[in-house]
Amino acid sequence: NTDMARLDVMETFHNISFPGHLHTQDSLNYAIHFPFQDTDTVIATYPKSGTTWMQEIVTFVKNGGDPHLSKTVPNWTRAPWLEQYYSPEVLGASQGHRVITTHLPYHLLANALQDSKAKVIYVTRNPKDVAVSYYYFHKMANFLPEPNSFDEFLDQFLEGKVNYGSWFDHVKGWTSQARVNFFYISYEEIWLDLQGCMERISSFLECPLVEKDLTRSVRHCSFSSMRDNTMVNYTLIPNEIMDHSKGHFMRKGKIGDWRNTFTEEQIGRFDNVYNSLMQNCPLTFLYEC
Ligand code: A3P
Repeated sequence: NTDMARLDVMETFHNISFPGHLHTQDSLNYAIHFPFQDTDTVIATYPKSGTTWMQEIVTFVKNGGDPHLSKTVPNWTRAPWLEQYYSPEVLGASQGHRVITTHLPYHLLANALQDSKAKVIYVTRNPKDVAVSYYYFHKMANFLPEPNSFDEFLDQFLEGKVNYGSWFDHVKGWTSQARVNFFYISYEEIWLDLQGCMERISSFLECPLVEKDLTRSVRHCSFSSMRDNTMVNYTLIPNEIMDHSKGHFMRKGKIGDWRNTFTEEQIGRFDNVYNSLMQNCPLTFLYEC
């Protein structure tokens, strides 16, 4: 129930850390040397690329379509952030089949992942929608600096002077790894075919879903269902950390919303940086549909 969940959140808040608090040097050191287990599932993303969505999808895939966990346990407890929950007790709590989330760039985890068979799912999203989503997130997340304008935020984003650094380096770092235990998927692919993507993820994680469980999972992972689920929409987080009167975490959930924010001049500025930094990158992104 919601009151219990809120209590858990507050306890976590006072004892350790919780989403919304930036990582410390200690937590970073812990993450860098993290002893991954072969049975771990790691969700790696640049912020605002569909992390919460993938946490929900993986929850359903790993639990045979059963909504119980999704309705009773917050996403940050089901799939804790490696760099924020540095207490070994928290990440060790679900020994055996842990789901771990991280926004860290690949190079920081390269050693820890080197000999591991942990399954890594890396989610990308077109960077114009990422920039806009990140901008609005800064407005409601009180632990991040309040942006003056989108124009100024865009410059910071393009220069990598935002939390978790450069989008360009993040995507290039993670996608330069050709490993059998790495699975790549984009926000746009999921958006266009949630069921098909869920089937691919269930096959990658070797957790088969029968037809009726798949149908049920797809329903629960829709934007409208997640927007109303307090275990994933971040409304359990106290207002002083995320101020829902300034915006919603589950904001729009669309492809191409950047069109409503970018000016022609900003599109040009963005494209120049993109073309110079991503010229050797084989990835293509879907910017509208
Ligand atoms: P918008 O701000 O564009 O709406 P993250 O979890 O990595 O922080 O990403 C948050 C973004 O994913 C937000 O984008 C949010 O609305 C979107 N999102 C979360 N769940 C979604 C879903 N089920 N369908 C579509 N978009 C979703």
